[in-house]
Amino acid sequence: MAERETWATRLGFLLAAIGSAVGLGNIWRFPFQTSANGGSAFLIVYLLAVLVIGLPAILAEFVIGRRANTSAIGAFRKLGRPRWWFVGAVGVIAAFWTLSYYSVIGGWVIRYIGGSVTGSALAAPEGYFGAISVGLSSIGTHAVFMLITIGIVALGIEDGIELATKVMVPAIVVMLVGLAVFAATLPGAGGGYAFFLDPDFDAVISNLGSVLPAAFGQALFSLSLGFSVMITYASYLGEDDSLPVDGFSIAVSNTAIGVLAGLVVLPLLFAQGIEAGGGGPGAVFVAIPTALAELPGGGLVGQAVGVVFFGVILIAALSSAISLLEAVVAYLVDNYGFSRLPTAAGLGGVIFVLGIPSAYDTAWLSWFDGIGVTLLLPLAVLLAVLFVGWVLGRDAIDELRTGSTGGSLAPIWLWWLRTVVLAVVVVVVLLNFNDLFL
Ligand code: PHE
Ligand code: NA
Repeated sequence: MAERETWATRLGFLLAAIGSAVGLGNIWRFPFQTSANGGSAFLIVYLLAVLVIGLPAILAEFVIGRRANTSAIGAFRKLGRPRWWFVGAVGVIAAFWTLSYYSVIGGWVIRYIGGSVTGSALAAPEGYFGAISVGLSSIGTHAVFMLITIGIVALGIEDGIELATKVMVPAIVVMLVGLAVFAATLPGAGGGYAFFLDPDFDAVISNLGSVLPAAFGQALFSLSLGFSVMITYASYLGEDDSLPVDGFSIAVSNTAIGVLAGLVVLPLLFAQGIEAGGGGPGAVFVAIPTALAELPGGGLVGQAVGVVFFGVILIAALSSAISLLEAVVAYLVDNYGFSRLPTAAGLGGVIFVLGIPSAYDTAWLSWFDGIGVTLLLPLAVLLAVLFVGWVLGRDAIDELRTGSTGGSLAPIWLWWLRTVVLAVVVVVVLLNFNDLFL
């Protein structure tokens, strides 16, 4: 059998992982969630969630992947704990499931780039969104998005994912910075910043019961945890990387890009006096285009900004989608020796079919999203934390230390994972179950 692929450089791994983390969640959810829940007071809670739970959990996934050197399901046999294979399986299923509708949204974004070029997306956004987000149109753009995703994954780790994200992640940063600078010139931008970040501690403290689970849930999703993605990406690493440094860099970049997105969308909306509530499709596909249409300088400015804005979202969504597909593809490639191209095409095709209901009718999309993000994701994180904390134990400490700066912190990390992280994730799972079923 051919030798297993690896990242060409450590930076390549980092950019791929950042590309996975930075996605729709950063742009259409995080800024609106922050502004609606207490501004920078919420940001503090979110940062705590990232540092206290997200970072230790991402290290747990890295440890599984790098130590096993194989993808998420086979990893447990390689680690000498074959009975725990289902931990990886839940994550792989979550990735499979989530990509099916993530791709539908990616397809809408492609459509909006076209609609910005022609101007039709900005002329009457509500009607435009209503028309393109359902039926055959939505199924068609879903197909296009899946084809691009398949194409990148089919090219492999170094020539596909690494090369693509090396271009994509810097492009996301450059385009968002450009948009933020533009937004800063708008009259009323200051009001948008205030709306985004003015601290309202009362909003956090008096709603702690909903703010805490929201912040922790968003932190896990935003760091791409629970989808076997970080296990898979770390499995292509060599021994010489410092996992804690990498995890920290990813957590910081992911949060910074979310804040940067807020510095774009909130001034844009605020300058036109448009409300966007808690985010989601209505914010990105209706509120933002409405604001763009009203920009000073006539329609062309709005159209140009729209192309860049939806362009960034497309790149962010694609660099996340390839990580989801890779988590599934790697399983078949590693365990059955299948070759990459047919595997990516075949699995991508099945995922496309699974996404057809979501593309056809947005009610299905919400249902898929509910199961994926509130059920499968926290369950998979819980299992991974339980496994690394209580089953892998000392081996996990050894692995985290390998190549690490700050390796002396490894025992503390493990203890923290076993207790605090596990307890918090259990609470998140129980709260979500309660919301879903009771
Ligand atoms: N982290 C991505 C986001 O914030 C979502 C995602 C989750 C992508 C899991 C890949 C894997 O949008
Ligand atoms: Na994210």
